[in-house]
Amino acid sequence: IDRYAVIGRPIRHTVSPLVHGLFAEQTGQAMTYEVIEGPSSSSEFAAVVRAFIVDGGKGMNVTAPFKADAFSLADEVSERAWLSGAANTLTFTADGRIHADTYDGLALCRDIEVNLGQSLAGRRLLLLGAGGAARAAIAPFVAAGPAEFVVANRTLSKAAELAELGGRLGGTVRACGYDSFDGLGSFDVVVNATSASLTGELPPVPMRSFDPAGLAYDLAYGRGLTPFLHHAQAAGVAHLADGAGMLVEQAADAFARWRGLRPRTETVIAELAAHSN
Ligand code: ATR
Repeated sequence: IDRYAVIGRPIRHTVSPLVHGLFAEQTGQAMTYEVIEGPSSSSEFAAVVRAFIVDGGKGMNVTAPFKADAFSLADEVSERAWLSGAANTLTFTADGRIHADTYDGLALCRDIEVNLGQSLAGRRLLLLGAGGAARAAIAPFVAAGPAEFVVANRTLSKAAELAELGGRLGGTVRACGYDSFDGLGSFDVVVNATSASLTGELPPVPMRSFDPAGLAYDLAYGRGLTPFLHHAQAAGVAHLADGAGMLVEQAADAFARWRGLRPRTETVIAELAAHSN
């Protein structure tokens, strides 16, 4: 029976086994999906992955803080992974090679556009944060064709770097700091890709930056509203979403890569929502 796993640290709250279990059931695939607590030192990451391969592992999902390590370890990387310098899915091929891809950005875009029905084409888009999670979203966001695309970050130089990447990919992306929102107006879609939610913090985005008729999206996922979504709600935003849909979509992409068929995600997203309430 084919073995898969998710690796991260900390990892005990992961819902990936639940999601992949539902996919396997839905598609009738015989496979197991385990949870592996990664090493405390990232220098030992490669050894843990190789041990899993020796034990018959066929693929691995990778979460924080190992996405860059997974990228470095791979023998072959997709263009998507190469652009973001990170990998969230490893596939171990029959000839012993490690293939890396990342589906985070695609999954985020698909969740917003398909599941939540908010087309990004011609809309005003604000991305908060300029770390790994934000970087993964640049290419698919540029490809979606927003009328205006701003990246805001606490450290301005990192936002400028992502704006430059967006420019190289054919988009027009503006960088700003949290103290320079004046004159930018409001945004139809505001995406929180900072890690602030994880520590109960809030990126200091002004309330006037939200268009009440638009969407506020937090990549974080968990019980109840995140501080960012509370803030957006107080600003009167009609549509609020957390990262549950993105999580399921990227899992479906990994599953498709491994098993050759893409599961339906709608019912799984609903089950996940029920699970966390
Ligand atoms: P991830 O892999 O989740 O993207 P990361 O690469 O460490 O994690 O990036 C974290 C992002 O969250 C950064 O954009 C960081 O801002 P800085 O680049 O200025 O450090 C942002 N961030 C973290 N805590 C924040 C807070 N309390 N307010 C605003 N931004 C925050």
